[in-house]
Amino acid sequence: MNTDRKRIGIVGARGHTGMELIRLIAGHPALQLAFVSSRELAGQRVADHVEGFRGELCYASLDAAGVAEQDADVVILALPNGKAEAYVTALDAARPDTLVLDLSADYRFDERWYYGLPELTRNKWRGQQRISNPGCYATAMQLSIAPLKDLLAAPPVCFGVSGYSGAGTTPSDKNDPEKLRDNLMPYALTGHMHEKEASRHLGVPVEFMPHVAPHFRGLTVTTNLYLARKMMREEVIARFRHAYEGESLVTVLDEAPWVSRVAHRHHAEIGGFVLSADGKRVVIVATLDNLLKGAATQAMQNINRAIGVDEMTGIPLL
Ligand SMILES: NC(=O)c1ccc[n+]([C@@H]2O[C@H](COP(=O)([O-])OP(=O)(O)OC[C@H]3O[C@@H](n4cnc5c(N)ncnc54)[C@H](OP(=O)(O)O)[C@@H]3O)[C@@H](O)[C@H]2O)c1
Repeated sequence: MNTDRKRIGIVGARGHTGMELIRLIAGHPALQLAFVSSRELAGQRVADHVEGFRGELCYASLDAAGVAEQDADVVILALPNGKAEAYVTALDAARPDTLVLDLSADYRFDERWYYGLPELTRNKWRGQQRISNPGCYATAMQLSIAPLKDLLAAPPVCFGVSGYSGAGTTPSDKNDPEKLRDNLMPYALTGHMHEKEASRHLGVPVEFMPHVAPHFRGLTVTTNLYLARKMMREEVIARFRHAYEGESLVTVLDEAPWVSRVAHRHHAEIGGFVLSADGKRVVIVATLDNLLKGAATQAMQNINRAIGVDEMTGIPLL
């Protein structure tokens, strides 16, 4: 075993994002799994639950104190919203130097934490060892709006459709395949957490209407932007190409992307750029895999930077 590798633990490792993180870490040259915590799967072999995982590592059920006792350089919290605090408090007290990355919304509005959407915020990282990973929809919305932020005449309106893995594993209507069959389920049509998050981090109000669809993974956000002046399509596209030039995980397309083409892939796609006849309204479509660029892959980008390796380390590009 390479002892130079950072030791990393996952709390909430049974979940959809936890599983993706296990896969990414298993193939990462600078990380090794120190522990994976799940109450439900405690004692069971990871290899029996995560396809392609090799080794004898078993899940353990660790409470906050138990996590703080582990010898880990990095801890990822992949828990439902509202559950992170006890773990953060225990780690702050016992292991303040441990890098903590939280996937939930719990610290996305906390100034003491770095909000890690690398393509838009990497120059704001000041060595913080507390990183809040953005929401999946919030990532797509911000990537869609940021290059035109200075030209908005009104709040952008985002229509979102996600696969049901976005609703986690706790049973609800939003992840019930029977209720989703032949269906599109609207929810939280004003005031969704990701509406607040995108508005806060872009610094402009954003309006967001989410829906859940019968597919499992991948989301689409179609954004309508009213512009303060007439624009040409080429000018809009040029802004996006310039903003994401050199970014491995954001692809700017001419046509509107399809969610089926981005599932299981690590990058976001942005395209469409359809203007109204007067040139003062543009519609932009973004897709990404909510479990990858919307969660686990973005977490890897953030962790890589914080441990001092290239941001793309361990992120396989197809
Ligand atoms: N799914 C997505 O597309 C997505 C995208 C971006 C961000 N996120 C965020 O990432 C976090 C994890 O999402 P997910 O979809 O992976 O959730 P999930 O599939 O529901 O998994 C949640 C995990 O947390 C554990 N858990 C649940 N309640 C707990 C508690 N009270 N104490 C300790 N452990 C508990 C569960 O395992 P045990 O019950 O076995 O312990 C499970 O491993 C959420 O905050 C979510 O908002 C999700």
